[in-house]
Amino acid sequence: MRTVIHDCGPIVCFDSDTPLVGADMYNDKWIKPAGNAIIINNKVIEEIVESNSALDDYLSHAQTTNQIEMIDAKGRAVIPGLIDSHTHIVWGGDRSREVRLKQQGHSYAQIAALGGGINSTVSMTKSLSVDELYRLGRKRLTTALRNGSTYVETKSGYGLDSENELKLLKVAKLLDDEGSLPGIDSTWLGAHAIPDNHSLETYTEELITEQLPIVVESGLARSADVFCEPGWFGLDESREILVEARRHGLRLRMHIDEFCDGGGGSLAAELGVDTADHAHHTSDEARDEMKAAGVSTGFLPGTPYSLGTGWPNFQAMVELEAPWTIATDYNPNNQVLSLPFAASCLVQRCGVDPLTALAACTINAAHITPHKSGNRHGVISVGSVANLNILQSQQWESWCLTPGHSPVDMTIMDGICLNNDL
Ligand code: NIG
Ligand code: FE
Repeated sequence: MRTVIHDCGPIVCFDSDTPLVGADMYNDKWIKPAGNAIIINNKVIEEIVESNSALDDYLSHAQTTNQIEMIDAKGRAVIPGLIDSHTHIVWGGDRSREVRLKQQGHSYAQIAALGGGINSTVSMTKSLSVDELYRLGRKRLTTALRNGSTYVETKSGYGLDSENELKLLKVAKLLDDEGSLPGIDSTWLGAHAIPDNHSLETYTEELITEQLPIVVESGLARSADVFCEPGWFGLDESREILVEARRHGLRLRMHIDEFCDGGGGSLAAELGVDTADHAHHTSDEARDEMKAAGVSTGFLPGTPYSLGTGWPNFQAMVELEAPWTIATDYNPNNQVLSLPFAASCLVQRCGVDPLTALAACTINAAHITPHKSGNRHGVISVGSVANLNILQSQQWESWCLTPGHSPVDMTIMDGICLNNDL
């Protein structure tokens, strides 16, 4: 089965084998001018050619066989399928009431101490069945897809015991198997908070000796993550958990320096983790160490948006010339599922170039959240997975300028047309 997308407007290709850094993130050389066609064969991009030549080659055949699907992009811009490289999709309950506590001046840690926060979501999540959690996850992923995401990293972390962490990872696997939802890259985040009946020491011990081997045995997680932050998991516990996880064959990720500089950046560099996320308060020295160690930084603009705190300095990352990504960090405290909205925070609030923001959640995100097929994604180039979005506008910049609604007209995932408003 071939799909021919003809009369494309500008196509943002990002045809590079390495993540983009610095000024390369906003170099217009990554954009093919209007007038091209994208030929897809068996889930993969086969060719990008002039639209007229594709019409000559395929239009008459398409009229006599159902093996060729023609899609008229009508001059609309095309961008890669978006990759959300940090989310928490599977959980139950509702923490909307916490908004008033925030407005009264209570911090994230104070709300947790008052019985809200992660542990309250854990109790609500534990009471739900696999089926109930699956339905919640499906709804959320459908929204993410509607906003252009074709691949999503998601974490457990609302079970906090072996049985319930495994339950969340199983739900993620079922969602991944669904086929018409964004693909899923699963991460074990048992080290998300300390459960009510444990101390930091006893829970760290349980994570290492009990949860980790069970999770690894299940094969349900590709990576491990730790919420490394004073008040949650300190540097010693984080190091212990991550070193053990690596020994068991998992890739590593971290939540660091969300509320203060807790030294997580240096630990991320020491361990050479794939990505260290939040990173609001990371020192310049630690950022240099991360750059030298090849650690990507994950910015999660929805979180400061929802918490009402300040933005990180995105422009400084461009100057640093180190790889970075943006992701939604969808979670009960920050219910952003739209990468275009997350990017709007950078572009319309922080002066970041729209091509830079797009590179951050496509090609750069692909390097820390690879596609399970082994093929490239987050790019539009020959041999890459046919995951792409046709926008509503003929101008590619529109991809992050419609906060509150989706800029996408049609999403093609694994070569199949899913949302179709054209
Ligand atoms: O990445 N900060 C730690 N974990 C999540 C929030 C989890 C929650 O508040 O439920 C995050 O923002
Ligand atoms: Fe997170």
